[in-house]
This record gives sequence, structure tokens and C-alpha cells, in this order.
Amino acid sequence: MNLQQALVELRKRGLQDYAALLFASQVRREPFLAPLKYGLAYYDFLREHRVKSVLEVGSFHGMTAILAALAGAEVISIDISPFQQELAKYLTGDCFRILWIAADSREVLPLIASGRVEAVLVDGAHDASTARADIREGLRIARRFVLVHDTDNPKTPSVRAVLLQEIKEPWRVKVELPHSQAPWGLTILEKAGGS
Ligand SMILES: C[S@@+](CC[C@H](N)C(=O)[O-])C[C@H]1O[C@@H](n2cnc3c(N)ncnc32)[C@H](O)[C@@H]1O
Repeated sequence: MNLQQALVELRKRGLQDYAALLFASQVRREPFLAPLKYGLAYYDFLREHRVKSVLEVGSFHGMTAILAALAGAEVISIDISPFQQELAKYLTGDCFRILWIAADSREVLPLIASGRVEAVLVDGAHDASTARADIREGLRIARRFVLVHDTDNPKTPSVRAVLLQEIKEPWRVKVELPHSQAPWGLTILEKAGGS
């Protein structure tokens, strides 16, 4: 997505705060522009389903955390890299309800209570072992949805394979967005009877 297209899509949704971020001179645009279509698909989904609390693994530059906060959710964002977290905090400021946790997801997710949030976004490490641990914990922690990124990424085939192995009742695949609709793919799982 180029900057012009990004601004059109952001304006359609009234996301002026995010557009301002893209214009901030000190911000590198590439980490926000390349995956923005994925971020907006995520934002639209959270809004449509009125999701009020999210936990994400993988803060990086803060794109998904910021968009989830703008969608009206309280956000817990975990990243193993303190540098990524500092960067994301610097970009978001105080006006967003985002709790940043600099930690390894494999250590911190097991400490979080079952059902703590409505949705979990898994977008951290892509090796099979970590993806499995994050997805398994996500299915335990989320009350309604688990969203897994990179499920249509030729560089990370194990993510989708692991996801299909880990999903079981009362969870089901709600929608699989291919790379063309959400760069590198986004699979959304829904819990039957979740609230
Ligand atoms: C693809 S990026 C996340 C993208 C982000 N959601 C966005 O909005 O653009 C993956 C992030 O996961 C982090 N990460 C990798 N392994 C991790 C682990 N074991 N625990 C927590 N974070 C991890 C990396 O430091 C990196 O910032």
C-alpha cells in the first residue's frame, strides 16, 4: 500500500490519529505502510465485533497495538525486545490504553489468567515451537477470538500447520484472510458460545 492509498483507507475510517503518525517526520513509514492492509483488516474486525480487550504477542513498531486501541480496545502488548517496546511507546504516547510488557511470550503468557481478554493476536516468533506455545496459550486466555498472523506466508509455513493441529472444540476457524486481503495472511478463530 502506498501513502496515498493508506491515507484514503485511514480517512474512510476516521483514523486521523493514525494518519498523523504516518506523517510524523521522525517515523519510518515502511513498517507501518507495508502491513497496513493487515492492520486495517484487524481494526475492522475488532470494531465490527465490538472487542473491548486484546492481548497481542509481538509489538514491533506498535501498528496493531495502536489500531486495536483506536478500535476502542484496552490492549496488552508483549514483545521480547525492549527496543521495540520503547519505539512503540514513543510513537503512541499516553492517550492510548496500552500496557506494554517487555518479555518472552513463552514465559509471560502462562502467568495470565484464563479468559482474561476477549481476543488474542498471535504475531510473535514464527518458528513452530514458539508459534505452538503462543497459539495454545492464546486459546486458553481468549474468551472470543484468537487471531493468528502469517498464516499465508511462504516463509512461515509452520504457523498455519501448527494452528490446524492446535485448534479443537469449542474453537473453530471463522475466517482465513489470504495474503491479498491481509498481507502474509490472517486466520481468525472463534470460540463457540464465547462472550
Ligand atoms: C512481526 S513482528 C509483530 C508485528 C506487529 N504486531 C505490528 O503491528 O506490526 C514480531 C515481533 O515479535 C517479537 N517476538 C519474537 N519472539 C518473541 C517472543 N518469544 N516473545 C515476545 N515477542 C517476540 C519480535 O521482537 C517482533 O517485534
